Amino acid sequence: MKEIILKKFEEVFGDTEGVKVFFAPGRVNLIGEHTDYNAGHVFPCALTIGTYAVARKREDKKLRFYSMNFEQLGVMESSIEGLKPEKEADWTNYPKGVMWAFGERGFEIPCGMDILLNGNIPNGSGLSSSASVEVLTGAILRDFFGFEVSNQDLALIGQFSENKFNGVNCGIMDQFAIAMGKKDHAIFLDTADLSYTYAPVKLEGAKIVIACSNKKRGLGDSKYNERRSECETALAELQTVIDIEGLGNLTEEQFETYKSAIKDEVRVKRAKHAVYENQRTLKAVAALEANDIAQFGQLMNASHVSLRDDYEVTGIELDTLVEEAWKVDGVIGSRMTGAGFGGCTVSIVKDEAIETFKKQVGEAYLAKIGYAADFYVVEVGDGPMVL
Ligand code: GLA
Repeated sequence: MKEIILKKFEEVFGDTEGVKVFFAPGRVNLIGEHTDYNAGHVFPCALTIGTYAVARKREDKKLRFYSMNFEQLGVMESSIEGLKPEKEADWTNYPKGVMWAFGERGFEIPCGMDILLNGNIPNGSGLSSSASVEVLTGAILRDFFGFEVSNQDLALIGQFSENKFNGVNCGIMDQFAIAMGKKDHAIFLDTADLSYTYAPVKLEGAKIVIACSNKKRGLGDSKYNERRSECETALAELQTVIDIEGLGNLTEEQFETYKSAIKDEVRVKRAKHAVYENQRTLKAVAALEANDIAQFGQLMNASHVSLRDDYEVTGIELDTLVEEAWKVDGVIGSRMTGAGFGGCTVSIVKDEAIETFKKQVGEAYLAKIGYAADFYVVEVGDGPMVL
């Protein structure tokens, strides 16, 4: 990969003098979905696939970007001064947002840069290609300008840029999973206070398989913000009867006791998902630590059912992938992952069943949906790095 991107950089920007090569991973969430803005727990891991960058500082204030994933856009130019989101800036709004966010934090970026990107995460798949670009940009800025920021800061700055520059009200999970990634470990993160531990992903004889629905998310972002506000309203209603700071503070029993305070049936379902999903995440991590993979898989399956029936963020594409996966012998667990409304599913599949899984689920999906899904057997990798 390094040779390919260096060669392309030379082709696009003339020479490779003064360049450095960087990488930031993508992520997959194993369990704990739509809990990260509800003061709940998540359990994601970084992947060995992600985004690569070749970058160098410039003498002037110019920014020049090129993405091998959007070659038709060519070189996109702007300036490090007066950064603001612009529709025409397309994907470059992500790195520019991070540059802006560093400025907001008081880190002045003294010069422009030439940056070429190449990602091997499928775009818009729900494996966080945008958070990967955000953390990658932060890692470049830290390296080039000596800013004293930790990897956790890179996550927070990335999230801030996505919320305030790019207008998506996302939680902290994606950027945190990417910035804090650790090979062969998942991150058990409490989003209420950002405390976390690493748990080894020991799947003995099984692998993590991602199935990408190839349904592009369109309405997704607005529905995402809608779910967030439904949860906020439900929380405010619950706070009239119990002293809590987030839905993640409640046990299932407490929720059942107090749920009548929520004055709308749909909101009861949304809040129920947030509470039960958080509890499932705690149980799943305990199961993994006890080497009880079967129990972990059952909790993944229950997570999908809740996202389908109560949170209503799946859709026919993700439901088909998961329901077909459940039929395959050797599938330990399967669920949608990420925001939903399209994107990917994550399954834990025994080694000997992987080929059957791809074939059986792939054929059923094509027959029902009319276009193909893609499958990736993934590995858990480290956070951002200089190559
Ligand atoms: C998206 C957001 C995350 C999280 C997930 C759902 O990936 O960026 O913050 O809310 O959806 O779990």
